[in-house]
Amino acid sequence: AQPPDPMPPKPSALTFNLLARCSTTKARASLLTLPHGEVKLPIFMPVATQASLKGLTPKQLEDTGCGLCLNNTYHLGLKPGQKVLDAVGGAHKLQGWKGNILTDSGGFQMVSLLHLATVTEAGVEFLSPHDKSPMLLTPEHSISLQNSIGSDIIMQLDDVIATTSPDNARIKEATDRSVRWLDRCIAAHKNPESQNLFCIIQGGLDLDLRRQCCIEMVARDTPGIAIGGLSGGEAKDAYCKVVSTCTDMLPAGKPRYVMGVGYPEDLVVSVALGADMFDCVWPTRTARFGNAVTDFGVLNLRHASYAEDFRPVEEGCGCKICLPKDKGGLGVTRAFVYHTAAKETVGAHLLSMHNVFYQLGLMGRIRQAILEDRYPEFLKAYFQKLYAGEK
Ligand code: GUN
Ligand code: ZN
Repeated sequence: AQPPDPMPPKPSALTFNLLARCSTTKARASLLTLPHGEVKLPIFMPVATQASLKGLTPKQLEDTGCGLCLNNTYHLGLKPGQKVLDAVGGAHKLQGWKGNILTDSGGFQMVSLLHLATVTEAGVEFLSPHDKSPMLLTPEHSISLQNSIGSDIIMQLDDVIATTSPDNARIKEATDRSVRWLDRCIAAHKNPESQNLFCIIQGGLDLDLRRQCCIEMVARDTPGIAIGGLSGGEAKDAYCKVVSTCTDMLPAGKPRYVMGVGYPEDLVVSVALGADMFDCVWPTRTARFGNAVTDFGVLNLRHASYAEDFRPVEEGCGCKICLPKDKGGLGVTRAFVYHTAAKETVGAHLLSMHNVFYQLGLMGRIRQAILEDRYPEFLKAYFQKLYAGEK
């Protein structure tokens, strides 16, 4: 008798090559090939509303070395809206962005930012911020919008509960519902050969619930896997236990994305726990408050002590902002940022570019350390410098 045919491989629009594993931690270095080019993992993905970081052009974003950024489904779905997206042929064309785009499904933004949402089995119900009319974001509608956006990575609609919620029954319901919604997303997805749908593991801080969720999600065999429901103010040790418990359950051959994580300390630790992809609005948001992210910690350049500090934003930084003019940069000094901070936008743009470059550069250094199997030494040196406090 003939052996049964193997299951046909599920269509996907990526290849994932694992290049190195740290011999002491769970850190990995890999190459992810997406429809709009290769990206090196581990990666930090800046959040770019309209393929620009609040006021920067796509070209300036490209100049930071970014090859994969986040767009907001909810935002694009309202403006320009699905009809225009379909007519233009998606968000890449709309924005003149040649790199890759990842879109979140939209429900999380509604629940966490607008506080106007209620969740039922059908989807996320909310009041339109425009005219307060009731709207319903279903798994099918979220995927349809993301299909129109044409993002290289699309996210399932999930039911997210704050990790700090005391309502265990609700956390369990949200976890099971997220699995059911993944099935609806998979069924609704029109372009699996050109857009990669990622599942999102939920389960709050309950490690058993996380394990059960991992089993269900992994069985659905999506091209990549996200860990959600974190970065909501939980204790660091609880956060680490969740990430580590999940990465232990996930296949080695797929990218792992921890959503909403962002601080440099959390990035270096999460990579050691086996995560590959991260996103956060923090580096660009904090830039608008005059904060520069550096190896020595965050410098608030609105502080009067920088008024006559003619060093670059971060000494030794290779970004366009920090590099001196004779090396092709802008030669921006801390004093310049201090004195332009009043006219918010200039200083904010400069710091946004430096901060994004910093986060991308940090991931590059992390990757190199993993490839050379010296990640524990890198971690030690990183924290020593950070906490030495020398600025
Ligand atoms: N962004 C940060 N955390 C989450 C999450 O749990 N789900 C979604 N969809 N987006 C997120
Ligand atoms: Zn810089």
